[in-house]
Amino acid sequence: MTAKPIGVGVVGCGKIAQMMHLPTLQELPEFTIAAICDISEKVLGEVGEMYGVERRHTGFQALIDDPAVEAVLICNFDHGKVVEACLKSGKHMLVEKPLAFTPSEGRPLVEAAAKSDAVNLIGYMKFYDEGYVEGCEQIRAAGKPKSIQVHDFAGVFDPYDGLYTLSRGSDVAPELLSKEPADAAARIEAELGPDHVAYRDLYQMLLMLGSHDLAALRGAFGAPETVLYARAPNMSHIIAVLGFANDVTAVLEVSFGAQYEWWDEWMEVHGDTSIVRIDFQHPYVRNAPATVRVRKPANGKGADTVMTPLPEDAFRREWQHFARCIRDKETPVTPIAGGLSDLELALAIIKALPPLKG
Ligand SMILES: NC(=O)c1ccc[n+]([C@@H]2O[C@H](COP(=O)([O-])OP(=O)(O)OC[C@H]3O[C@@H](n4cnc5c(N)ncnc54)[C@H](O)[C@@H]3O)[C@@H](O)[C@H]2O)c1
Repeated sequence: MTAKPIGVGVVGCGKIAQMMHLPTLQELPEFTIAAICDISEKVLGEVGEMYGVERRHTGFQALIDDPAVEAVLICNFDHGKVVEACLKSGKHMLVEKPLAFTPSEGRPLVEAAAKSDAVNLIGYMKFYDEGYVEGCEQIRAAGKPKSIQVHDFAGVFDPYDGLYTLSRGSDVAPELLSKEPADAAARIEAELGPDHVAYRDLYQMLLMLGSHDLAALRGAFGAPETVLYARAPNMSHIIAVLGFANDVTAVLEVSFGAQYEWWDEWMEVHGDTSIVRIDFQHPYVRNAPATVRVRKPANGKGADTVMTPLPEDAFRREWQHFARCIRDKETPVTPIAGGLSDLELALAIIKALPPLKG
């Protein structure tokens, strides 16, 4: 007998929900889209029609309380309070990155999740990218790293909107639209403290873009022990040197705003006798796993092997894993504790920058 699909409620039906999550949920037999929530009535109406979802809410608590909802996808702007409400409800949850905006917000969430029987994942879809998984295996096989570099200059985003049919919330009142970002900014400023408050936008950039890179690094090597160095050439560009056990270091460089037509995000690891490089693909492209290049000696020469996995989709694999966690008690690959670890590292990187008055 086929199992009943898991009813998912989606909070925040913006770009990433429409580009990736909703189509994936619609096509996977493990799930049904039970309800949707957005502060935009226009988005609620258009997305609701497109996916045939009758249960529509403008407040996230109403969605969480909806009896048709067994699991919640959190895709709005300010995640922390939705995660908190979800944990209280005991429903399963998949929260997009970042877990919250500050470690102070994230800590009680992770403590509550540790006491919960529900599945609580963070949406670091790269962990489900077959190219990344293969790359990590190659990195382990290469032995102790002599050098680790993680680089994310991203690329253009807007042209990718045209690849999908998107509904946008042009009806939301400007006061409502600006309220959550203003609240979040105040909480971040308090956490950064007076000497680093001027780096607020840089910290947010590190969370919104760079958290994938912090997570990818953690997935391959564990969380760094220290931040040895950090500098910011400008307020959308950060360079840091991170220290691991046994004198292993990693250079992290994240910058937003490059107008590349290609996606520029990679991790390169130099071992004693080989080099492994993982090139990530644009997050807005479906079925585009990372490619892996391994350079090794062969017959006294250097030889490159390029691995291009089957074009499986990382978001789809993430959802399939989520279903197995719920139904088969599979061990979560991306528990929300990882999201807290990345928030702590992002804050430590910013705090390692020279003090700067706002
Ligand atoms: N995994 C990835 O690669 C990836 C890529 C893009 C975005 N994201 C994450 O997904 C989240 C959403 O990003 P996006 O690009 O879709 O943003 P978006 O602005 O396009 O969508 C957010 C949606 O949430 C709605 N919303 C805002 N506040 C709300 C609230 N309180 N309750 C209900 N709905 C609310 C907005 O109206 C909007 O429709 C962000 O946290 C972002 O970090 C992840």
